Amino acid sequence: PGLRLFDPAYQNTAVCRSTICDIDGDRGILRYRGYPIEELAEKSTFLEVSYLLIYGELPTTAQLDMWTGQVMRHTFIHTRVQELMKSFNYDAHPMGMFISSVAAMSTFHPEANPALAGNDIYKNNVRVRNKQILRLMGKIPTVAASCYRHRIGRDFNAPRNDLSYTENFLYMMDHLSEKNYKPNPKLAKALDVLFILHADHELNCSTAAMRHIGSSLVDPYSAVAGAAAALYGPLHGGANEAVLRMLEDIGTVEKVSGFLEEVKQRKRKLMGFGHRVYKNYDPRAKIIRKIAYEVFEVCGKEPLIEVAIELEKRALADEFFTAKKLYPNVDFYSGLIYKAMGFPTDFFPVLFAIPRVAGWLAHWVESIDDKDAKIWRPRQVYTGEGRRAYVPVDARG
Ligand code: CMC
Repeated sequence: PGLRLFDPAYQNTAVCRSTICDIDGDRGILRYRGYPIEELAEKSTFLEVSYLLIYGELPTTAQLDMWTGQVMRHTFIHTRVQELMKSFNYDAHPMGMFISSVAAMSTFHPEANPALAGNDIYKNNVRVRNKQILRLMGKIPTVAASCYRHRIGRDFNAPRNDLSYTENFLYMMDHLSEKNYKPNPKLAKALDVLFILHADHELNCSTAAMRHIGSSLVDPYSAVAGAAAALYGPLHGGANEAVLRMLEDIGTVEKVSGFLEEVKQRKRKLMGFGHRVYKNYDPRAKIIRKIAYEVFEVCGKEPLIEVAIELEKRALADEFFTAKKLYPNVDFYSGLIYKAMGFPTDFFPVLFAIPRVAGWLAHWVESIDDKDAKIWRPRQVYTGEGRRAYVPVDARG
């Protein structure tokens, strides 16, 4: 009984068994359900990868058709959710709008709430479980695009289900939204690959939050909103936004060494570098760097790439970073691609959240089926005062 282990920030604690995502941080290896991330990025699509993550196997043609059709049929959001979104200030951070709107979705689907429908609703009823998965997968890009449209003061674009998942998202974002709109296939493909790379990453802060919140048996909309809130922070999914602000701040290649000196004096952090698990090059960063040049071919070169490359080159040759095994992570180059594609900087974390919903749902499903599942409730080491007698306010010094 009592305290067993002190492990601040869960640095050395495994809290569940999982078959979803495998990371070898020393060798820079990432696999979803056993498939190397490089192979999935090259050969698969985001919706296929989502199916793999959530249901455990790559789909057959019939399964993929059905999955795609069902997800795309759930892309419309309730007009009341739209009204809620319209009530935000125009300069509200898109991630704040996104988190609140996903949380609000729980109020539209009371049958998804175990508190009302019965604690074992998801364990016993796969149909009810799948319904929420389809709704979340379908509606998330629409909520995300609506955050952006609200931000620029334009009407929301209704989803177009004749387009692919990623094409439809780009269509809903687009300023012009012409009837015969077709996004540039190279850009749609690049974004789809970025979605694959961001879809899951085992027990990162937001996925751990998803499992933690879900362990209370709350509905999945509330749990996804909580996970998205964890993702918003600059040490996690907000890092892509922070990287771009850092690159803009540095501005030119000449200022890189001065900036790195400040990092070494611990006045600044090199955003987009370092990882709790990777002590080698993040395999996703390698793929993303390649995609950056493919996107620049279409959109024009983003000048800040030179600053990023110089930063990487100098950091990887510097004892301060090599001794701590600090390498570029997934967020180091992604922001440059998003900027080149025209996405506003504060929208970058939303672009991370859209695909990560697939991973959160995969972990939610796995935790429902886990026979050892219990409510998550870590312990603390209390370091405060012992028993004290209450002092009335007028007697306090
Ligand atoms: N710049 C400068 N020093 C760093 C950095 C960095 N980006 N990252 C870690 N360090 C140092 C840190 O100061 C510490 O030094 P010391 O041992 O001398 O005190 C050492 O490296 C170990 O770092 P840590 O903070 O104890 O490691 P952690 O596992 O707790 O944190 C991290 C991991 C990702 C939060 C951290 O590396 C960081 O803040 N990176 C910058 C933010 C970032 O890019 N986040 C995105 C992470 S990847 C995608 C995602 O999860 O969303």
